[in-house]
Amino acid sequence: MRRRGRGSPETSNISSRAVQKKPFTVLFCRIFAAMFVFALISISFLFSIIFTPTEKSQTRTPCVLWMAPFLSGGGYSSEAWSYITSLHDEKSFRMKIEHHGDMQNFDFWNGLSSETKNLAFNLHSTECKMSETIVICHSEPGAWWPPLFETNPCPPTGYKDPAPLYVIGRTMFETDRLNSEHVRRCNWMDSVWVPTDFHISTFVKSGVDPSKLVKIIQPVDVELFNPDKHMPLPLPCENPVFGDPSPDSCKGKFVFLSIFKWEKRKGWDLLLKAYLREFSDEDNVVLYLLTNPYHSDRDFTAQIQQLVAGDSKDSDLGNLEDNVRRYPAIEIIDTHIPETDLPGLYKSADAFVLPTRGEGWGRPIVEAMSMSLPVIATNWSGPTEYLTEENGYPLPVERMVEVEEGAFKGHMWAEPSVEDLRILLRRVVSDPMERKRKGMKAREDMMRRFSPEVVADVIINEISKILESKRN
Ligand SMILES: *[C@@H]1O[C@H](CO)[C@@H](O)[C@H](O)[C@H]1NC(C)=O
Repeated sequence: MRRRGRGSPETSNISSRAVQKKPFTVLFCRIFAAMFVFALISISFLFSIIFTPTEKSQTRTPCVLWMAPFLSGGGYSSEAWSYITSLHDEKSFRMKIEHHGDMQNFDFWNGLSSETKNLAFNLHSTECKMSETIVICHSEPGAWWPPLFETNPCPPTGYKDPAPLYVIGRTMFETDRLNSEHVRRCNWMDSVWVPTDFHISTFVKSGVDPSKLVKIIQPVDVELFNPDKHMPLPLPCENPVFGDPSPDSCKGKFVFLSIFKWEKRKGWDLLLKAYLREFSDEDNVVLYLLTNPYHSDRDFTAQIQQLVAGDSKDSDLGNLEDNVRRYPAIEIIDTHIPETDLPGLYKSADAFVLPTRGEGWGRPIVEAMSMSLPVIATNWSGPTEYLTEENGYPLPVERMVEVEEGAFKGHMWAEPSVEDLRILLRRVVSDPMERKRKGMKAREDMMRRFSPEVVADVIINEISKILESKRN
């Protein structure tokens, strides 16, 4: 593809003619001129080797290397996929992706569409020069260079030798602070992208340089999670935690849906207390819990019955135990629901509820909102970015409490009010006009503020600002 110099044949032509027909001085001038032309052509040939047109355009189009747990299927993974699917057509930069962060999950990879897999292969094969690349490390800061655990490091070569053009950390936390190691790692970055104003404030309070923090919201797939495009998914009804297992026992009931990992942070204990105290088997309601095992036993039914019987450490279970035969229906779905069936699952619900103690963003909440469902979720952390009195039911926080175990031990998070949750559960059942109005507003807000196109523009803007500053 390099442009070839055409010097040699032409010059030898001129000089041979000169030798035959012209006097000596003229001949000398001709030779001199020919040598000059030859030199010029040689120089331009040299330049053409150094700056060939294709290389020129490559060096001019910078790269964005997105490193994230693409193959793990967790929260960061789905967020990263949503970014790259809305960005990969962008012309102002080239994109490359690399797996980084969590372990690979082959079931997750196998479940992806062939279109998505092809996109991944294509983006993975992009060639980037590190000095011309903006690197995005999309993971928890412990995975950033030098990683604290076994993972593909990000940036791949560290911060120098060769230094990337710019390094961005994308991360978030569910509590009121960051530990000091994470603060230090955030401050090694040129920028740290967080999803909400809540994070800007908790990161600054913890010691992250405010000038490095940029709010980059998270998109929701409003095309996939579109209530007009899906039929309700038939819900299982044969295995209630309480009451008779009869195929018809769920028919015609008001369906509450909650989706969460089975861990304390998600507030499933608060949800069950509020639900079981507020309703009985005479109320026409059923609560579906879509969950998966996460640092806990798979026997959710036993854990629920333990909570109810007051065997757990909670002391405020009151008289739940006495009412064992009158409990409203609860159904647990702990099988894998493919992504493509999720919209149908939301569609079969009448309301979504998650009294979480802390969220980075709250993906199922925004998916439910995109499906026009009325949503009850805690008025703290991630959801404060998008949940309002107009588009849902923000659940008041009773107090802040200390996290007792796990990676966030000693941090604070929210304890939503069980009594307020009872009120909201009842209200969403008994006021169909209000819940319909809020559900419609929820979808409207998701499309207007969090569609993939809107969020892609935010990122493209931010990247062009960075490139602009690097040109100066
Ligand atoms: C949610 O929290 C904000 C402060 O963070 C407060 O201004 C607002 O009134 C709260 N809304 C509800 C419904 O509790």
